[in-house]
Amino acid sequence: MSKPLGIFTEFNDLSATEQELVRLAWKAAESSALHQLCFQSKFPVGAAILAANDTGCAKVFLGCNVENDFFPPAICAERGAVMAAVVEGYTRFLSIAVVCQKVPGGSPCGLCRQVLRQFGLDAVLLSVVDQESNVRRSTSGELLPAASGAPLSCSTLSPCDQRMVRRLVALKSRSHVPYSRKPRAALFIADNARGKQAVFSGVSDDNASFGGSALAESVAMRAARTAGYSKAVRLMVTVEDPVGINPIAGECLQVLREFGAEAPVWLVGQDSSTVISSLEELLPDSFGPESL
Ligand code: THU
Repeated sequence: MSKPLGIFTEFNDLSATEQELVRLAWKAAESSALHQLCFQSKFPVGAAILAANDTGCAKVFLGCNVENDFFPPAICAERGAVMAAVVEGYTRFLSIAVVCQKVPGGSPCGLCRQVLRQFGLDAVLLSVVDQESNVRRSTSGELLPAASGAPLSCSTLSPCDQRMVRRLVALKSRSHVPYSRKPRAALFIADNARGKQAVFSGVSDDNASFGGSALAESVAMRAARTAGYSKAVRLMVTVEDPVGINPIAGECLQVLREFGAEAPVWLVGQDSSTVISSLEELLPDSFGPESL
């Protein structure tokens, strides 16, 4: 699909610390398999994070994927390792090794990217790509980049697209956002199997549990799926800053990924100026159906 992130690096060319981190990530993946924590997917994943605390002390924390009878509470290896590190005050991530036992098995999913970036952009990410533990080396900052296009003023769009942008912006007021106070609206244009096209709308819906909240993009995409419109044509979403980094939550990009990776993503700013981006740009080297 999209070109892989980072630079291919042989295991032998990693530092001794990095080699140890990769070994520990394998061990963590083995835990997932051994304790049948990935009983649904049979896809064991392990992560090892080398992190520093405020006093400059560094320590390694492990995580593996832990699945559930219901799918949404499944925790990925990366997020498990993040939780283990931060609860002890190790919030500055230096390097992160990730192993999918089935290699090559893909890169961090959108949710994990979102959680990783919360703790900085310069951690070295070592994604194991084969049984020999060779890796691709990138950084956490590369996982959720900014869109590269220039903002288009609304008046330069076609009359039809201008109407869509106005409809999108008007929808924002229906958001239920008592906790985040971030109203957000999305329109998802999709085709069904007979080639019929429809527009699905969504607004953000906060929940007191925070994690149980739904973002506008996901609501719109899920409505399309429910109606049998599974071929993505375009996702349009209101964003705070269309040229800023990480304009859309990794979770929503991950949902879009399941529809394929081709549909354009329109990022509509506060003044209705629009940047036209893509999933490939916003979620490079994504984890998708063919990673499994
Ligand atoms: N998984 C991870 O642990 N990390 C990722 O970045 C992608 C996916 C897990 C979640 C689930 O248990 C299984 O792999 C299949 O998606």
